[in-house]
Amino acid sequence: MLFLQLVLLVVLLPDGDSEDDFQGPVSFRIILTTSFYNPSWTQNQGSAWLDDLQTHGWDNKTGAFIYLQPWSKGNFSNEELTEVEKLFYTYSIRSPSAYHNHISQWQLEYPFQVQLLLGCDSHFGEASVGFMRIAYQGSDLMSFQNTSWRPSPKGGSRAQQVCTVFNQYHVFNEIVYKLLTDSCPQFLLGLLEAGKAYLQRQVRPEVWLSTGPSPGPGRLLLVCHISGFYPKPVWVMWMRGEQEQQGTQRGDVLPHVDGTWYLQVSLDVKAREAAGLSCLVRHSSLGGQDIILYWEKPHSMGLVFLVVIVPLVLLAGLTLWLWKKTHWRHQCTDLPSEQDPSSPGSSTYLNPTQW
Ligand SMILES: *[C@@H]1O[C@H](CO)[C@@H](O)[C@H](O)[C@H]1NC(C)=O
Ligand SMILES: *[C@@H]1O[C@H](CO)[C@@H](O)[C@H](O)[C@H]1NC(C)=O
Ligand SMILES: *[C@@H]1O[C@H](CO)[C@@H](O)[C@H](O)[C@H]1NC(C)=O
Repeated sequence: MLFLQLVLLVVLLPDGDSEDDFQGPVSFRIILTTSFYNPSWTQNQGSAWLDDLQTHGWDNKTGAFIYLQPWSKGNFSNEELTEVEKLFYTYSIRSPSAYHNHISQWQLEYPFQVQLLLGCDSHFGEASVGFMRIAYQGSDLMSFQNTSWRPSPKGGSRAQQVCTVFNQYHVFNEIVYKLLTDSCPQFLLGLLEAGKAYLQRQVRPEVWLSTGPSPGPGRLLLVCHISGFYPKPVWVMWMRGEQEQQGTQRGDVLPHVDGTWYLQVSLDVKAREAAGLSCLVRHSSLGGQDIILYWEKPHSMGLVFLVVIVPLVLLAGLTLWLWKKTHWRHQCTDLPSEQDPSSPGSSTYLNPTQW
């Protein structure tokens, strides 16, 4: 009974671990990228992300959020969401004109890009207060703290001047402050709850092996493909027995359209050393049962030789032998000889006693 319980415990434990994985850090990010081409041409693009998963798009003409997952509204009501939409849209219209109006003062030159990043994080079921930052041409310009903007040290005098202007919008900044401290953490927790079944799903990878482009004469690039797994963390290694192969090269984990992941892990080896290598895959969906695929061994060429070629040669040999034997026999019957007394055909006129 105790033994059974121990077995059960061991079987159940990995599930407990994966639950913890989910409760680990998760980030929610809203990104708004504004491209300034000339005084009358500005382009806005917005999106929202839960780690690597895009949860929201944004219609830059109407300012409406686009809900990409059935659970993308989290636990917010339509009224609450409309309010955030309005705020976001107002910012996306007003802030570009602030840049256009200060082109020479802030030493800006068309074309340039400004990015707004805001979000909050969750860890073990608790969500942090949100943050907000603005970057100019990909480097930090300023960040929002408490209820006002602070220049980034790298931003120089331009950052200080932009802050001065943005800090004049007191009412707007008060609202943003509430958004970051209350709405963002609440929305994130509600989103995680609503999307729980989807976010905690476990999808087993398919694994197969192939060769990549030859790295050189007498060498092979062995490629292990791991496809369609979820969640993202996965451990893959080329092995020889228990030995991890240090030359293992891991590619980037790439997304499939269905939200699962794909990964290639390769190893450059001497062709004659490929035998006995295997690709080992560990993933939470496998419940502790690793996938191990062996590289097709060169022995198997020998096996083909044994199974197909050798019988063929033997068969040919046998045929030849039989053919020779009958041929020889004909010669014997043609040329009477006492050396073949057992031959029934020849005995009739070879055995003088019978004759
Ligand atoms: C909206 O975004 C699309 C591409 O995402 C872009 O082509 C278009 O110019 C944008 N429109 C505005 C008004 O920013
Ligand atoms: C945040 O700003 C408000 C008003 O600007 C101020 O009263 C408050 O003390 C500040 N809080 C912190 C933690 O800096
Ligand atoms: C959404 O869920 C979070 C976490 O459970 C909660 O703090 C928040 O009050 C909820 N918001 C609404 C509008 O129900």
